[in-house]
Amino acid sequence: MATVFETQIPSLLGVRARVADALPISRVDFAEFSRDLLRSFRWLHQQHGPIAAIEDGGQRVVFLFSPEYNQQVLSDTERFHARFFTIRGPKRSAQRRVTCGLLSMNGDQHRRNRRIVKEPFGLRAISTYADTVVRLTDEMLDNWRPGDERDIAEEMRHYMLGVTSTLLFGMDDPVAACRLGDMIANWVTLNHEVGVGALVPNDKFLDGYEELLGYAEVLEAEVLAMIRRRRESATHGNDVLSILVRSNDADGGLTDEELVGQAAVLFSAAHLTTAHSLTWTLFLLAQHPEIMEQLWVELNSEDSAGGRPKSLGSMPKGEELTLLDRVIKESMRVLPASAYSQRMATESVRLGPLELSRGTGIVFSPLIVHHLASLYPEPERFLPDRWINLRPSPYAYHPFGAGPRLCIGAPLAMSIIRVALQRILTRYRLSVVPGSDIGAHVESTMLFPTNGMPMRIHSADGRYARSPVVGNIHELVDLGKKPEVSSYESAKVDDAVPVQRKPR
Ligand code: HEM
Repeated sequence: MATVFETQIPSLLGVRARVADALPISRVDFAEFSRDLLRSFRWLHQQHGPIAAIEDGGQRVVFLFSPEYNQQVLSDTERFHARFFTIRGPKRSAQRRVTCGLLSMNGDQHRRNRRIVKEPFGLRAISTYADTVVRLTDEMLDNWRPGDERDIAEEMRHYMLGVTSTLLFGMDDPVAACRLGDMIANWVTLNHEVGVGALVPNDKFLDGYEELLGYAEVLEAEVLAMIRRRRESATHGNDVLSILVRSNDADGGLTDEELVGQAAVLFSAAHLTTAHSLTWTLFLLAQHPEIMEQLWVELNSEDSAGGRPKSLGSMPKGEELTLLDRVIKESMRVLPASAYSQRMATESVRLGPLELSRGTGIVFSPLIVHHLASLYPEPERFLPDRWINLRPSPYAYHPFGAGPRLCIGAPLAMSIIRVALQRILTRYRLSVVPGSDIGAHVESTMLFPTNGMPMRIHSADGRYARSPVVGNIHELVDLGKKPEVSSYESAKVDDAVPVQRKPR
């Protein structure tokens, strides 16, 4: 029987024809294909399996949907270069300089910059950020009141704006740090809007393009002013930018131009990825009361008292994982904040049945690979305990990428997520507003919550209960029976039967 995807998507995507039955290639309209990338990726995988390509007007993009192909491409940084920003701007423009951070670098320049930029993300440095993360988390929670209804996606976005700005750009002047963070966040949005328009350039695209180039100039001036203040300051700041400004290697440290690019890319890479990971995890926990109940016990145990996670940095393995760690790992499997990344072939190369010419774009997607039933039985179910025995290859589980370009901020992101979840979940109970339309879509390489995440805040009374919700989230996560519209439209959160009342 044909699935919804098989029957509806070809017309939605503007698919014209299969190029040749023997090859896993579909001719599509790129603009149509990009309109709903989540659906398009899933459709393409269903059509062709582990490797697929789309073609439009002589241009080809290849998609990898298996650990084996991932490994072939991600481990080979010579033949496959990274590319991140769609709009690089003219050669000597501010846009070109602001987009020249790690994610756009390759070869020796990438290796050298990565070695230097990694330094402020080591375990020792991360432990010095812990107090700041705790303080900023508590400031957010002090504003929440039982009975509030809040868009948790927006709360997490705002919270991470504060955390990222402060850790990257300064604990001593949070106002200047947040202003710069805000500017980079706006610039990232503008890049996305203009980047999408680039598929079908028109007057609107040209206006947006000019605006982007102008904004990049203002942003660059702001970062340079901050770098200058760091260089002139007698005190030794602990923020990432200060550490990078002081950095020195055999070649004399990072130039101001390199620092501008790294500051912009670090903020862009850290802000929304971590915010979305938090949002998705809070959603999954609220919708799995049995797991939330066990987690509550762990978070309130003596080991966890004090509201600090036991371990900082990356994940330990297997049985050493706490339930909190298993929850985060499983959440990043089911709903990975980074939905896809890209590479570009630097020479002609054969990948499986496909011959790639120089310059061909290649996409790899944890969103698809993390849902392969051959790797993860019952892939749509949120089962944190699967991680007690599961040891997938780094190319089969890659929420932070894999190989020589593995995310340098992963240990920091994990520490922030652990601290935030621990403090949120011991202080409040969160439930999804019943009847909410919970959607996910892919935008700027990330998996965004489409309509925010409407949640109610309760005191930590242990009355965990799943809420009926609608939306395309049901295509990604098995949340039990999908409710009929009429039965939940008028439901109230406290009408739901709580799993158990837990005494504090
Ligand atoms: C949950 C949060 C995060 C997720 C899901 C995430 C995901 C990723 C992924 C998938 C990549 C690989 C991209 C590729 O191969 O093309 C990556 C790279 C990177 N990430 Fe993260 N990231 C997160 C947090 C952070 C944080 C907190 C920082 C720094 C403050 C950061 C900085 C970077 C940088 C600089 C790279 C580029 C590394 C390179 O090219 O050598 N990320 N991240």
